[in-house]
Amino acid sequence: MARILVTGGTGYIGSHTVVELMQQGYDVTIVDNLSNSSVDVLDGISAIVGRRPEFANIDCNDYVSMEAVFKQYPDIVGVIHFAASKAVGESVEKPLMYYRNNLGSLITLLEVMRRYHVYNIVFSSSCTVYGQPDKDHLPVDETAPIQKALSPYGNTKQINEDIIYDEAHADSSLHATILRYFNPIGAHPSALIGELPNGVPNNLLPFVTQTAAGLRAELKVFGDDYNTPDGSCIRDYIYVVDLAKAHVKAVERMLAGTPTEQVEVFNLGTGRGLSVLEIVRDFVEATGVNVPYQIVGRREGDIEKVWANPKKANEVLGWKADTPVKDVLVSAWNWEKHLRNIQ
Ligand code: UFG
Repeated sequence: MARILVTGGTGYIGSHTVVELMQQGYDVTIVDNLSNSSVDVLDGISAIVGRRPEFANIDCNDYVSMEAVFKQYPDIVGVIHFAASKAVGESVEKPLMYYRNNLGSLITLLEVMRRYHVYNIVFSSSCTVYGQPDKDHLPVDETAPIQKALSPYGNTKQINEDIIYDEAHADSSLHATILRYFNPIGAHPSALIGELPNGVPNNLLPFVTQTAAGLRAELKVFGDDYNTPDGSCIRDYIYVVDLAKAHVKAVERMLAGTPTEQVEVFNLGTGRGLSVLEIVRDFVEATGVNVPYQIVGRREGDIEKVWANPKKANEVLGWKADTPVKDVLVSAWNWEKHLRNIQ
């Protein structure tokens, strides 16, 4: 069976994708330097799937070690590249670290892939490349204009997309699928893997579940004076398992040789926008657990409203994010309970 190399495979989206790949029969080698994940994630994956992925504790910037991986696994037919630093605020404080990590790892990977004749790559990008789309581009499809990034993190996603286009132009053998994620949430239904935020969570859902678990006194809702029906920001929250499945579809499409362009781009979202207050309300309704919250001022750099037009992914990849949001919120809560040993 074909082997897929998954960089960042012990991370949040990476680990869920490894599960889906292995359940479809792929062999998987994970490369991860564990800078923002735990080696224990491998136990969770193994418990779900019934076999263990191969694992190498390597920094993707390390050419020699990456080469050793491609030598050791000559059956690698494709790569999914998740490994990246991803905290927007931290990227503003440490831009050079973000440029070095996120650009260097992709460049190294593409160099090694070329050397070992591996020509299929799926790249984790983000809806952040669209910034705040104007009203004519909401919901956002793949033709919406790319706007200047608001953070070094966002800029690394844009530059990495350009690097992929340029390398594909230079090497006609290379095929790439760029997946622009909206806001992934939730955890595997087994509650054996999920999101493991480092310190105080920046993202909404881990903050909600930690507040529900009593770790945080209250959620701060950043702004209720936006131009939205209830005044809070709107996002397209997509179930991480649905998102993981899109990667399997993207890999299958490339291995089957069906892409119509050398670089294909897909927006991965549900097509439905939910406000922060709607998420809190749905969470409380779905779990029966209260989430105290307070409205505070806006968070710098936040986008008012963005949600996807996922039509291209639906039609071309034959994929749809259709897990009901309340089920997703329950999965996030079950994972938090698992982490905290709450019955
Ligand atoms: N929010 C709160 N309180 C919190 C945390 C978040 O009200 O404690 C709100 C935010 O203001 C925003 C929404 O919840 O309106 C979602 O915030 P997240 O931080 O979860 O997600 P973002 O949409 O801001 O950021 C995500 C990814 C980034 C990526 C960005 C754009 O985390 O990596 O989408 O693609 F850059």
